[in-house]
Amino acid sequence: MKTVLITGCSSGYGLETARHFHAQGWNVVATMRTPREDVLPRSDRVRVVALDVTKPESIAAAIEASGPIDVLVNNAGIGLFGAFEVTPMATAREVFETNTFGVMAMTQAVLPQLRARRSGVIVNVTSSATLAPMPLVAVYTASKMAIEGFTASLAFELEEFDVRVKLVEPGYGPSTSFTSNGGARMQGLIPEPYAPFAQRIFASLGQPSAVTRESDVAEVVWRAANDATGKLRFPAGPDAVALARST
Ligand SMILES: NC(=O)c1ccc[n+]([C@@H]2O[C@H](COP(=O)([O-])OP(=O)(O)OC[C@H]3O[C@@H](n4cnc5c(N)ncnc54)[C@H](OP(=O)(O)O)[C@@H]3O)[C@@H](O)[C@H]2O)c1
Repeated sequence: MKTVLITGCSSGYGLETARHFHAQGWNVVATMRTPREDVLPRSDRVRVVALDVTKPESIAAAIEASGPIDVLVNNAGIGLFGAFEVTPMATAREVFETNTFGVMAMTQAVLPQLRARRSGVIVNVTSSATLAPMPLVAVYTASKMAIEGFTASLAFELEEFDVRVKLVEPGYGPSTSFTSNGGARMQGLIPEPYAPFAQRIFASLGQPSAVTRESDVAEVVWRAANDATGKLRFPAGPDAVALARST
């Protein structure tokens, strides 16, 4: 039986991905900053493990507690919406610590075992913002674009060891906790000169033609983890799929 370790399972895409892999008969190591057993099915194939991807000691302890892993899903991420001009560099660094360096650190932590066994898959969850630029998310997009380039390059050196890497690019998912989790970080990031522009953007976001559901992402992460075709990029959700086709 295969084992998947997923980061950021307390809500949203990560939680649904954990449920999906469990439903497919896998062992699931569902990691969270604040472990909660009650959000996942009670099962001897589900383990909830504490993990903050920005903390090296937390990563080491989680990998130690998890045992052998076949698939790593780097899903944990934080959002940032605001005008770049007024975004504190400390906030930009905070976004990169989770979305970019957290993914790199987790990848480095599991690679020795995957390389030694000459098998395994790493799935990095980025965003449809990498498919076509969107306004007022410059720092967030940069943090995810970095992972697109990182993953595409890594694919070559890991192919040598039969380890696969994949990108899942979800679309806009208003039903996750993504916006509420970013609320405090975004305070004051739309100053007066940017307000009319931001209001137009908010209005268009309020009436999307299509949105991404948690189950869309869970199914695509599953497909990416089991893909044997060499495909790198997997847009997830109807809006992301449409965007990928149009670019
Ligand atoms: N929703 C969207 O519109 C959207 C669109 C495209 C891509 N994405 C990406 O999809 C992924 C999942 O987002 P979501 O929409 O499901 O949002 P979410 O409901 O906020 O879930 C994000 C998860 O990441 C966790 N997390 C944050 N910082 C962490 C850290 N330092 N270490 C470990 N876990 C951490 C959160 O845990 P806590 O509960 O501890 O905060 C939460 O479980 C993210 O990478 C996001 O960038 C989202």
